[in-house]
Amino acid sequence: MFYSDDIVEEVRTKNDIVEVISEHVRLQKKGGRHWGLCPFHNEKSPSFSVNGDLQVYHCFGCGAGGNVYTFVMNYENYSFPEAVKMLAERAGVQLPEADESEEGRRRESRRSRLLAVNKEAAKFFYYQLRTPHGEPGYRYLKKRELSDETMQRFGLGYAGKNGAMLVQYLRGKGFEDDLIQEAGLASHSERYGMVSQFWNRVMYPIQDINNRVIGFGGRVMGDGEPKYLNSPETPIFDKRRNLYGLNYARRARSSNIILCEGYMDVIAMHQAGFRQAVASLGTAFTPEQAALLRRYTDNVLLAYDSDGAGVKAALRGIGILREAGLTGRVINMQPYKDPDEFMKALGREAFEERISQAENSFFFEIRILESQFHMEDPEEKTKFHREIARKLCAFSEEVERDNYLQAVAEKYFIGVENLRKLVVGYAAQNGLARPVERPKSGVRPKNTAEDKAKRAQRLLLTWIADKPQLYGKIKKYISAQDFTEGVCRRVAERLFQELEQGTFNPAGIISMFEEEEEQREAAALFSANLPALDTELEKEKAFRDILLSVKKNSYEYHVSRMGTDVSALTRAIEGKKALEELAKAHISLD
Ligand code: GTP
Ligand code: MN
Repeated sequence: MFYSDDIVEEVRTKNDIVEVISEHVRLQKKGGRHWGLCPFHNEKSPSFSVNGDLQVYHCFGCGAGGNVYTFVMNYENYSFPEAVKMLAERAGVQLPEADESEEGRRRESRRSRLLAVNKEAAKFFYYQLRTPHGEPGYRYLKKRELSDETMQRFGLGYAGKNGAMLVQYLRGKGFEDDLIQEAGLASHSERYGMVSQFWNRVMYPIQDINNRVIGFGGRVMGDGEPKYLNSPETPIFDKRRNLYGLNYARRARSSNIILCEGYMDVIAMHQAGFRQAVASLGTAFTPEQAALLRRYTDNVLLAYDSDGAGVKAALRGIGILREAGLTGRVINMQPYKDPDEFMKALGREAFEERISQAENSFFFEIRILESQFHMEDPEEKTKFHREIARKLCAFSEEVERDNYLQAVAEKYFIGVENLRKLVVGYAAQNGLARPVERPKSGVRPKNTAEDKAKRAQRLLLTWIADKPQLYGKIKKYISAQDFTEGVCRRVAERLFQELEQGTFNPAGIISMFEEEEEQREAAALFSANLPALDTELEKEKAFRDILLSVKKNSYEYHVSRMGTDVSALTRAIEGKKALEELAKAHISLD
């Protein structure tokens, strides 16, 4: 299905974003914008803003953002064509017959085709589970004590023994063989033709934060190898950047998120009422996943397996969380192996109690460390103390380090001063950890190491979007070429072009980005708060500084490329001239 840009824009302009969002979120007008509680993460005070003038929304908490299409797609879990259809109906726009031609299909992006084929496959598996063919799968899941409601909620399904059925079904829905293969749903062999990848397994669809199916995990029923077969990485399935269950967890209205190891753990936890449980996707927990979690909480609880491998994974996870500025706590699952078993044996309330007793991740690390030394041997004991000192050096903040030092000294009967000496000695040799950027409270912006150049470019665009009349005054100094950051460059190109033509349309600009991350970023540009400065003079100075910084970065960028790019020389020369002029110019802001 494919709709032309014109019709997409017409439908968008006929659906006022404030009205559409008000149908789902209670909004209050304050200072030119509307504010409400973000529907995409848990919060108690409003950080979700909707700008009626620019027709964009942006959440200062979790970073969600976009135009009216982005909102409907995320809120209703619609594909883009579905969102167009829904909003066209809402505004009474007659849509032309959808373009189903070869050309139209080709123009629909590969990503959305991959999402579509996954969605269809998920439906197929889901229905299979509920037919007589699916009996073995259904029986298996029942044996694991899952209710029908849980199976439905997670869209669980079944891939039968007939490997040709899925392929036939998908072909019937108009999907080409190469797409089915790229999604990892089937493979082709000379001998058998197209054969389904998943065979006689219960199927767990893996969804992204917007409930779109991006891949599958297939589990054997009973013993067998491999236990789980996961979809391969595809343009829509990045195992490092997604978490199983996060689509539910982020709306669970819980102050923490519980990180588990397995899909089944997440499902069992949700069934018991812990909807804030998530798991990584068949690979170890990654820094990207930690950054993702940081959007929603600063309180992560680890519910890893209690065996040796689980403890090792937990120790790794703690390190990654700490790097991301999150403190983790560890839930003791003993004497059970994992949350799934724990829940079956002891149930919800016992688990609540374990949550409240969850161990600070530093003490967890020390306790595990202790078990590796023979404490009766003085030499071993000294080694243990040295290791503690080494770990203490990982705290970059003195107050925090000292608090931990005192607590651990007390707990393990070590003299505080002796331990402090060890820390000082260790730090003298190896240095202390670099400061980690830490959240002040609650949810914080996702970007920690955003570099200066990017920040200046974003600020400049924000400023121009806020005061479009500025463009006329600065256009002789600056062009879209000066923006070296991907999203900024594309926004600048389009924004400047529109300003030239007198058609300033931020919400339309957002539509040109396909990736959700880019849409968020673009929406953030149009929603950011400019620095609060008192006097006009201060504002003018701040604006000039930003302008100069963007120009300077651009000059350096083009100079550094002069060896490989012929046009870079021209740009560098022009840039130098503009920079000199700019340094002398006076730009008033009104
Ligand atoms: P159950 O055994 O059904 O309770 O599943 P589980 O989710 O508890 O699995 P387990 O704790 O054994 O493993 C944790 C996670 O590691 C799983 O959810 C998978 O994501 C992944 N995993 C386990 N076994 C395999 C495997 O054989 N292959 C791959 N690729 N991933 C696996
Ligand atoms: Mn398990």
